Amino acid sequence: MASRTLRSASKLHSICRSFGSTTCTRYAFAGPTPSSQIKRHLPLQRRSFSSSSPTSSPAATTMSTTDALIQAAQSRRTIYKLGKNSPVPDSKIEELVNAAILHVPSSFNTQSTRLVVLLHEEHDQLWDINIETFKGLVAAGTIPEQLFQNQTLPKLQGMKAGYGTILFYEDPAHIGPFQEKFAIYKDLFEPWAEHSNAMHQYFLWTGLQSLGFGANLQHYNPLIDTPVAQNWNIPTDWRLISQLIFGSNEEAAGEKVQKPVEERVKIFGKQ
Ligand SMILES: Cc1cc2nc3c(=O)[nH]c(=O)nc-3n(C[C@H](O)[C@H](O)[C@H](O)COP(=O)(O)O)c2cc1C
Repeated sequence: MASRTLRSASKLHSICRSFGSTTCTRYAFAGPTPSSQIKRHLPLQRRSFSSSSPTSSPAATTMSTTDALIQAAQSRRTIYKLGKNSPVPDSKIEELVNAAILHVPSSFNTQSTRLVVLLHEEHDQLWDINIETFKGLVAAGTIPEQLFQNQTLPKLQGMKAGYGTILFYEDPAHIGPFQEKFAIYKDLFEPWAEHSNAMHQYFLWTGLQSLGFGANLQHYNPLIDTPVAQNWNIPTDWRLISQLIFGSNEEAAGEKVQKPVEERVKIFGKQ
């Protein structure tokens, strides 16, 4: 019962986002954020590591890897305008996705995250399912026709214009036994699973960008959960968490507001 209430609250939230409430205009319906609401993105201030010897001492190797990691984090941005060209063979995408599954951590090593990768026609099919789902909402009177035509449909077609989508799931079957075994943490396993799932999302978002793709993260769940599960024979108890859409990068990232670092980081004992 509780989980049904949660699901319908989540569904309502998804539909609310679909109506384009002020807090989520870039989300299910999204047009670009008005430039009056954004400030110039200040480039990350980075320590230069390049003064160290280029010869390969372990420290130099570590610093160079750190530099690359920061660069990758800085380059990952939300890109909405995507195309169907790929900078790499599909095997590189598979390698990256497998690396996420193998190397992203999870609490107690539960490994409850599941990834479904849809490429080419399979990707197109996902976004056709999305479009059909929203048409159903219009027919039911849940979403005004004009809003759908002017905002939702162009956005969904924009997603379809991409190269692929990664669906992020959680498999609850791998959480229950841990909740029983470690009763003291019972209520924490689900949030921890979400944390781990988000780490997979971040790894793949950043990794796809490093391969030369653009990407954006969406949440059309739970609206599409059932038809997607049916279409790709996905276990019905897997919970869809998010969708990462990627494709050739057809626009520069928008400007981004950055709150001051000093307000968000406290360092003690720095020498
Ligand atoms: C947990 C999370 C959920 C997000 N959900 C959505 C979403 O549903 N739709 C969307 O368009 N963007 C979504 N985003 C993208 C954020 O709006 C975006 O990352 C943020 O504005 C910063 O911009 P950047 O990605 O270019 O750095 C989400 C991002 C995060 C981290």
